[in-house]
This record gives sequence, structure tokens and C-alpha cells, in this order.
Amino acid sequence: MRAVQASGELILERGEGAHVWDDAGNRYLDATAGLWYANVGYGRTEIAGAAAAQMRKLHAYSHYGDVSSRPTTDLAERISGIAPMADAAVFFTSGGGESIETVVKMVRRYWSLVGEPDRTVIISRERAYHGLAGYGTSIVGTEAFKVGVGPLAGGTATVAWDSPEALEAAIAEIRADRVAAFFCEPIIGAGGVLLPPKGYLQAVQGICRAHGVLFVVDEVICGYGRVGDWFASNRIGLEPDALTFAKGITSGYVPLGGVVVGKRMQEPFWETGAAGVWRHGYTYSGHASAAAAAHVNLDIVEREGLVARGLELENEIAEALAPLAAHELVSELRSGFGAVAAVQVDPALLADDPGLSDRIVLGARRHGVLGRVLVGGGLQISPPLVITRADLDELASGLAGALDDAAAAHHS
Ligand SMILES: Cc1ncc(COP(=O)(O)O)c(C=O)c1O
Repeated sequence: MRAVQASGELILERGEGAHVWDDAGNRYLDATAGLWYANVGYGRTEIAGAAAAQMRKLHAYSHYGDVSSRPTTDLAERISGIAPMADAAVFFTSGGGESIETVVKMVRRYWSLVGEPDRTVIISRERAYHGLAGYGTSIVGTEAFKVGVGPLAGGTATVAWDSPEALEAAIAEIRADRVAAFFCEPIIGAGGVLLPPKGYLQAVQGICRAHGVLFVVDEVICGYGRVGDWFASNRIGLEPDALTFAKGITSGYVPLGGVVVGKRMQEPFWETGAAGVWRHGYTYSGHASAAAAAHVNLDIVEREGLVARGLELENEIAEALAPLAAHELVSELRSGFGAVAAVQVDPALLADDPGLSDRIVLGARRHGVLGRVLVGGGLQISPPLVITRADLDELASGLAGALDDAAAAHHS
């Protein structure tokens, strides 16, 4: 709060394509698609129009019980049609955090319904990020997010982010008959843009299957085109038991998220058992106007081939950023899985000067690039999927300018 007070706020006013403008008329290339969501870019009046039209007709109604609206029911079917699991069912929320809350309760209730109520432990990965609601904060893989908020949810464990053997060992130690689920982001996003080691995701899926543990993939960042397929799971051939989504479903034009659930997890919920109705849901679950916006957003993704563009950007981003690898402040570039990358500021320099990455990001604004620092000091690169090759050069040269300025200040 003190830093913002000192530097003042940047007030953004409008956006178009991959660019946004502040209230003084300065233009910035958006290096991050907002918080990884603006996949179709800014200024899509078509989406605004669809939401407004739905608001004029029926802006929303509670979707509890047997009540729904046409855009919502159709959206569930549309998502089911592109999901990596057969016969998928969809539970809508207002964003990623609520999706994580929902899926934690869902997996635990699943085990309770199938007669294994001791299976409650949720295993997540070090460096993982699953949002900052209650359960999300309890399973986040970076301790800084947990500081000073008192006791969190119990029944959680974390394992090394890159080791199938660590998962196997944790399940053995906790005992498989106490483990409910393993949660994993295909690419660890906010935790630093850490790409899965080759074969990692298939290996952990296999371990989950072998021990009956539910495999939950958090695709809040990856979904709807960013990684060159509808979901990372589709691209790699995973078939998770449940998958969380948000962000790219509406490109952030309105808040919307959800959980996609495969057949295995659905079954006990559809049976009329002693447990009765599952009393879980949110005021805005299934919001009709959000669903209407999502349809048009997905129409744009399809019409403009943005899933394929996500795949092309994998190489284009790597090419554009390549010259930065030699910069004295940069230790590593991470890319190679869709339109996501990180420019890692040298951890050895950050150890002496922890504010260095923040200053580079602030400095980049003077070079026309709006960016963000990840956990671990990397610079987040996840532009709108409508970004052009020329825009990427603008992004790289803006970052190079900011790195040069920071290096010069570092030496003086
Ligand atoms: C992988 C992942 N899961 C969950 C969330 C939480 O989403 P939200 O901020 O919409 O609650 C995020 C947000 O960045 C995320 O990256």
C-alpha cells in the first residue's frame, strides 16, 4: 500500500486489440492479457452487445435446483463438447477461486458418498497457485500467501513441483486410503511460469490412477486457447477426473468460472442416496449474462482461429524474446508451451536487490509495455492471443529498454 501511495495509481481508460491506454493518453502493449485472461484482446463490442442484450431480456436468475436459462444450459453443453473427458458435466462459478473451493468440496464429498470418508487429503505442488479463497490459500505452494491469516484448512500436503517420485512418496507416506485428490496446473503460472518436465503430467496422472486418487487439473490459465488447444489436457492427452476453468472462458469481459467433471466423479452425485441434495452453489452460479458473453467470446476464438494462434505464438514469443537471454540481468527465458513465457531476472541479483524486478516492470511502462512480476522475480509474458509478430517485437524492445535502464541504475 505504501508503494502505491508513493508512486500513485496508473488509471487505465480504454483498450483495443493487444493495447491499453491510460487517462493521459499513453499507450501500452499488454504483456500479460490483464491477469492471463484477455485472450481475444480489448474493445470487443460484440461481447458487450451480447451481454447487454441478455441483460435487457433476463439479466440473471438463480440457477439452483431445476432452474436454468438458455445461454447457461447451452454453454454447459458447449464446454462439455470441447472438454478432455467424455460426457463431462459443468458446474458454474464466478471465477477461479470459487472453482477451487467447489472442486475441493466436490472431491471430498465424492469420497464420502462412495464410502471412503477418510479420503480427505488434497495434495498440491510447491510453487502452485490455485487462487486465494479459503481452500486455495490452504493449498497454495508459496508460503508468502499464507502469512498472518491464522489457521487454514487442514488435510492438505504439498510435494515438489517437478517430481512424480515425490507424489508417489507422499501418497505412500499419507497412505492412499487417506488421499482424496492431487491438484495440478499444467503450467505453474503465477508461481513463476514453470513448464512441466517432459512426461511429468502423464506420470502423475498414472500415479493417481494406480492409487485411486482423483486427478484434478487447474486450467484456469491454460483453458480456451492459451496453450494451443482448448485445454492443456486435450493437447497432452490427459483425462482428468475434474478440471477448473475461468479467465479465458469470457476473456475477462465478465467474471465467470467453473468446474468440469468426468463420469467417475459425477456418478454418486446423480444417485439418490442417504446424503440427499448437495447444498453448494453461489448467487452468480450460471449467470445468464455472463454465459451470453462467454458464447460470443468462444465464437470469436473459433472464427479467428485463436486456438491455433495460441500454438503459433509458442514459437513467435520464444523468437521475439530470444535476444533478451544474453542480457546481464536475465538468467533464463522459459517458454515452449503455448502463449506463455517468463523472462527470469537473475536470482543472484535479486538476492541482493529484491526490488529489481518490480523496478524493471515499472520502467517498462516508460517504454510502452505494461507487465507484471511473478513469484520468484520472473517477468510474466502471456499477451492477448490477437497479438501480432510486430507487436511482439515492440514487447521485446520495450523490455530490453527497461532492462538496460535497470542495469545502468544498478551499476551507478
Ligand atoms: C491456476 C489458477 N487457479 C486459480 C486462480 C484463481 O482465480 P481467481 O483469481 O479468478 O479467483 C488463478 C488466478 O490467477 C490461477 O492462475
